[in-house]
Formats: sequence, C-alpha cells, structure tokens
Amino acid sequence: MNRVYDDERLAGAYERGNEMPEASLRAWVELIASSVPSPSPAVVEIGAGTGMFSAAMARWIDGSSVLAVDASEPMLAEARRHHPHPAVRYVSGAAENVPAADGTFDMAFLSRVIHHLPDRTRAARELARILRPEGVLMIRTTFRERLDAVVYDYWPQLRSTDERRFPGEAELLADFAAAGFAAQEVASFAQPVTASLREYHTRMTTRPQSKFASITPEQFHEGLQRLAIAAQAEPVERPVPVVERYDVAVFSRR
Ligand SMILES: C[S@@+](CC[C@H](N)C(=O)[O-])C[C@H]1O[C@@H](n2cnc3c(N)ncnc32)[C@H](O)[C@@H]1O
Repeated sequence: MNRVYDDERLAGAYERGNEMPEASLRAWVELIASSVPSPSPAVVEIGAGTGMFSAAMARWIDGSSVLAVDASEPMLAEARRHHPHPAVRYVSGAAENVPAADGTFDMAFLSRVIHHLPDRTRAARELARILRPEGVLMIRTTFRERLDAVVYDYWPQLRSTDERRFPGEAELLADFAAAGFAAQEVASFAQPVTASLREYHTRMTTRPQSKFASITPEQFHEGLQRLAIAAQAEPVERPVPVVERYDVAVFSRR
C-alpha cells in the first residue's frame, strides 16, 4: 500500500491545502446526492482523507450516516479534529479490507483515491461485497487521458508521474465490470477550488498533495516561482477563480 499519507506533515498540509469553497463543496454534494438510491442513505467513503466530503455528505444529504474509512492514521486524526460530525464515524481501514459487514451501504464514494490503490480489482470486489444489491458506487478521479489540472501548468513533471499513476477510463470500467458493477454514467464536473490564482499560490506553498513527493525540492521551487509570477500578474480587482475538473464514474451492482 502507498504509505505516503502516513506523513504527518502531508496530512496537515492536505487538510489546509485542499479545502474547497463552501459553494463548490455543496455543488459536489448535490451531484453525489443525485445518485443516492434511497432516502436516509448509509454511505461509505473510502480514502476519506481529512474528512471534507464525509462531513459535507452528512451535513447536506438528509438523514445520511457516513462511515469514513482511511488507511492513514495522520489523515484520520486531521479528519476527527477538523470535520467532526455526529453522523460520521472515522475508522481505520483499507479499500481492500473494509471493516463492515456484507451489504451494509446504499452508496460508496471514492474521491482522488483510486490511483493510490495497489490492487484495484480486489478493492472493486470489496466494494461489491459491502454495498446492498441496489447500491451505487461513485468514483471521482481524473482519467489518465484527460489529465488537465492547473498544477501541470506550473509543474509539468507531475504530468508524467500522474500518467503512470492514474487509470484510464476503459481500464477502470473493465476492472469494476469484472467485480460485478455496471457503469451507469461517466460525467465531467468542474468547480472552483480557490477564488484566485493568488490564493492557489498560497495554498501550493505547503506542498499539499502526495504527487509533489515525486519531484525534487528544486523542481518544486521552480514551479512555485512560475506560479508566484503568474499570481502577481493577476489583477487584484479581477481575480480569476482556479477551477478543477474531475471525471465522475457512477456504477450500480449488476
Ligand atoms: C488524495 S487523498 C483523498 C482524500 C479525500 N478523499 C479527498 O478527495 O480530498 C487519498 C487518501 O486515500 C487514502 N488511501 C490510500 N490508499 C488507501 C487504501 N488502500 N485504502 C484506504 N485509503 C487509502 C490515503 O491515506 C489518503 O487519505
């Protein structure tokens, strides 16, 4: 398993550096809610990280309860500290071995985690096990062939890292089909993550993502310098929000 998130520095930086504006988070939860198959759903988030989505789902999906599973204790500690919610239970566990009985959940949600899983087919079988027969799985990722994040504009080396790490669409759909899932929809959804490039620059100074571990400190600082120059050129009175687009794959059990 990828243990990069066991680093306490990264866990703290991740929490501060990946928060979304409330309106964006709300739009994401509305999208998730549109695929929920039943009222008051039991939801599991795998790779819940610092808990932003788990707490938001509990807050905005009526009557929901969320089991938030993550393999990293430092990430779970940040989640419990920053995103406590009475309907969310943060537990240690792995996508390949989820601490839950068969057929427990109406919905499973995975955000920015699928590329970390060492054994995707095993995780897919585990998700099929813990979902109810009418359960729905939503995967939020970026497919290898559509890597388009703003981060690559400033750190072009990260693109080749991510081309190795992220699955392509056909590959992902095939792995989940083999585990008994039928693809219902593959959509694209974009929301602002910061209100300006200046804010994005401030956020990036903390190296808030695991991908930065793949480049040297010099490469990191060169990219940050490019970003600082672009951010300084942004007119203060006309800030440009930084938007991140994701691919969203929705599956039902067959
Ligand atoms: C990029 S973070 C995503 C966090 C959150 N879902 C989000 O979208 O902000 C990836 C998370 O997946 C977790 N993770 C990696 N491999 C895992 C596995 N095999 N099982 C469960 N969690 C895993 C990491 O510990 C980390 O917290």
